[in-house]
Amino acid sequence: MPTLDIARLGAPVNLGELFPNRKTVIDFGAGMGHHTEHLAALGYGVLAIDVHSPGICRIAELVTTQELPNVQVHLGDGIPILAEVLEPHCVDELHVMFPDPWPKARHNKRRVIQHSLLELANRVLTPVGTITMVTDDDDYAAHIDNVLAESSLFYRTTDNPEIPATRYKRRADHMRNSIHGFIAARR
Ligand SMILES: C[S@@+](CC[C@H](N)C(=O)[O-])C[C@H]1O[C@@H](n2cnc3c(N)ncnc32)[C@H](O)[C@@H]1O
Repeated sequence: MPTLDIARLGAPVNLGELFPNRKTVIDFGAGMGHHTEHLAALGYGVLAIDVHSPGICRIAELVTTQELPNVQVHLGDGIPILAEVLEPHCVDELHVMFPDPWPKARHNKRRVIQHSLLELANRVLTPVGTITMVTDDDDYAAHIDNVLAESSLFYRTTDNPEIPATRYKRRADHMRNSIHGFIAARR
C-alpha cells in the first residue's frame, strides 16, 4: 500500500497529472471502497481517502490484483490533503458519500460537511468542479441544505447524484430510509 499512498509523493500533488486524460474525483471517507470501485469502472481517476485501514487496504489490493491504473489512496485524515497536499484547482469532483451522521446535537460540529469543507473544496476544485454529497440521515440532509444555502461559495444544483450499491446504500435501502443526494456547484 505505501506505493499507492499519495503521501509518498510529497506536496504538492496534482491529480490531473497523476491521472492524465481522466476526470479526477476524491472519494472522501471511502469506507470499504465500493464507491471508489464504481468510479474507477466509469474511468475516473480516483483518490480514495479514509482514516480506517481495512477499506483502504481492500482498495489497494483491488488496484494491485486488477492492475487498475486509475486509483490511488490515502490512509489518514483527508482534511490536510485538501488543505495542503493537493495543488489548487486540480480536482473535478469531491464526493462525500454517507458521511458519519453524528446525530447528537453536541456532536454536530464533528460532521465533515461544514463551511470549512466548502472552503477546502473551493481550494482544490477546478472552476467548474462539483461536490457530491449523499446521506440517509434526514437531520444531516437538512444540515447540508443549510450549509449550502448559507454558503457564498457553492449552491445546490437541481442535479441528482448516481448512488452505487455501497454498504451504506444497501443498509439505507434495507431500513427504508430516504436517501438525500446533493450536487453543489460554485456560485
Ligand atoms: C459512514 S462511512 C461511509 C463510507 C463510504 N463512503 C460508503 O458510502 O460506504 C464514513 C467514512 O468516512 C471516514 N471519515 C470520516 N472523517 C474522515 C476524514 N476526516 N478523513 C478521512 N476519512 C474520514 C470514516 O472513517 C468512515 O469510513
